[in-house]
Amino acid sequence: MPEYIHVSVAWPYANGDLHVGHMAGAYIPADIFARYHRLKGNHVLMVSGSDSHGTPILIEADKRGMTARALFEHYHMRFLHTLKACGISYDLFTHTDTENHHRIAQDIFRTLHERGYLYRQTQRQLYSETEKRFLPDRFVEGTCPKCGYPNARGDQCDSCGSLLDALELINPRSKTDGSTPVVRETEHFFFNLAAFIPQLTAYLAEGKEHWRPNVLTLSRNKVADLVGRPITRDIDWGIPVPVEGYESKCMYVWFEAVMGYFTASIEWAHNTSQPEAWRKWWYNPSAKSFYFMGKDNIEFHTIIWPAELLGINGLYAAEGDSTPINLPYDVPANEFMNIEGQKFSKSRNWAVWMPDILTRYDPDAIRYAIAATMPESKDTDWSWADFVARNNNELVAAWGNLVHRMLSFARKHFENAVPQPSALTEDDQAILALSESAFERVGELIEAVKLRAALSEAMAVVREANAYLDRRAPWKQVKEDRQDAATAVYTVLRVIDNLKILLAPFLPFSAQRLHEYLGYDGQLFGTLSIREYAESERMHAALVYDSTQAIGRWQPSQLPAGQPLREPAPLFRKLGATPAEETAIIEAERARLGQPYEEVPIESL
Ligand code: MF3
Ligand code: ZN
Repeated sequence: MPEYIHVSVAWPYANGDLHVGHMAGAYIPADIFARYHRLKGNHVLMVSGSDSHGTPILIEADKRGMTARALFEHYHMRFLHTLKACGISYDLFTHTDTENHHRIAQDIFRTLHERGYLYRQTQRQLYSETEKRFLPDRFVEGTCPKCGYPNARGDQCDSCGSLLDALELINPRSKTDGSTPVVRETEHFFFNLAAFIPQLTAYLAEGKEHWRPNVLTLSRNKVADLVGRPITRDIDWGIPVPVEGYESKCMYVWFEAVMGYFTASIEWAHNTSQPEAWRKWWYNPSAKSFYFMGKDNIEFHTIIWPAELLGINGLYAAEGDSTPINLPYDVPANEFMNIEGQKFSKSRNWAVWMPDILTRYDPDAIRYAIAATMPESKDTDWSWADFVARNNNELVAAWGNLVHRMLSFARKHFENAVPQPSALTEDDQAILALSESAFERVGELIEAVKLRAALSEAMAVVREANAYLDRRAPWKQVKEDRQDAATAVYTVLRVIDNLKILLAPFLPFSAQRLHEYLGYDGQLFGTLSIREYAESERMHAALVYDSTQAIGRWQPSQLPAGQPLREPAPLFRKLGATPAEETAIIEAERARLGQPYEEVPIESL
């Protein structure tokens, strides 16, 4: 029975380009996972979008002297092109400023309010007398009360990860003009998280053996002392509070952005003319939802979003359906990926920007390097030397050459087709069996979101196939015993065809090219495109994945003898022809770090 798998991916703030940290933290793992489940024949719904609200957008817009909307639209469009170029197969990548998201977020707010989960309270807040406005969240910086880090933001400390209230900051200062704010009173809505302690405790108590230990520990530790949190802000960019007299305040961005998983599912259903279909992932006891994000987002997805879901349970459920709404099944949060040994920093431009590197490198090479080193259990490092070495040694020398040599050889010696084998030798049977049994091994690891291990399991088969070929040496044997060489080539082409699928979730672009070289037609996966949807006030652009033409299946090859082979081109490009050239590439890339970044035009992607 096909399963319903919801792949929920963190929503990037639309205030700057996407970088390697985003890809390694959430998007590449989510995409590998989604593509695998699609090959398995499961019903995948993968959604996300641009997080268009909140102080991160406002502050950047202020800095550049543009409106928040103009800034968000600029980066939203860049995200769509970047994600498409990387092959991140969102069924829908939308944003939080759609009419759909506004309407449903306000419904959720109203529902929580009507059910008594919200309360009003006067709050002391930092206020800037020079700017004549309140300074919520990131509008203020100061020293972290928990760890002493001097540049903690008003909402969270980047050094120790603690969520903060701006009032707790020691020596607070306005982010905009550096002035010292004063404390003023203002009234806000609070989300009564304490009301959910019993349900959240139960939720986190059982059946969580598959959770990553750090995610589980952090979440359990937070539950016992949950208190109400303010969920509205005195800012004018965001979703207005749908309560009379409070329309000039907006919902807190985190409270509202997480709702995007739900609202985007509904938007997807509408866009694909099956307005009820989203419920199969949300009101279905056997559906599973996986939330991909970086470790600084954990609490929002394991506590706050589940509390919101518990609070709206039944909202938009089908008539007479009392199935409870699905809470996150797993939250496989990643740690961080540093860059050449240092923490990512936007202000110092210590970053590897995706639109930039996509102009120089193959997306599969980037995906591979990220997948092989992604920070699943500890912080890892993006290093250019590692990138070049992995590309040249693993993709080009081990996998690409295996494919290219054997396809060219088969075409040359066996009339451009898969040769007819005789009885397989023991060695032939063993390598074939190894590549076939890998479907189960790799599949289990992907299902457990152990993606690095899954990739290395598949690459182990590549190495075994190369060792097998060295033993069988069909290039020698073809002169002595042509039929025996035919059997070896047939065997290795079957192994290559298996590896094509085993690696396809990681390397979708090259898998498709290989599929065609092997003489097949059709698309392993669906197609990604940028679509525009007319809304009443403005155009809305989104990235969408159309799976109707996809034929790829997670199952061993049936490659028939006699199948014509197409003329292959090398699957991957070696970086640098000599060691000196390799070093030059690495040095040139390192030299870009910390230099001003000029945005690459998206048309070049
Ligand atoms: N925009 C947030 C960030 O970049 C992540 C939001 S995930 C969401 O850290 F689900 F809350 F949207
Ligand atoms: Zn701190």
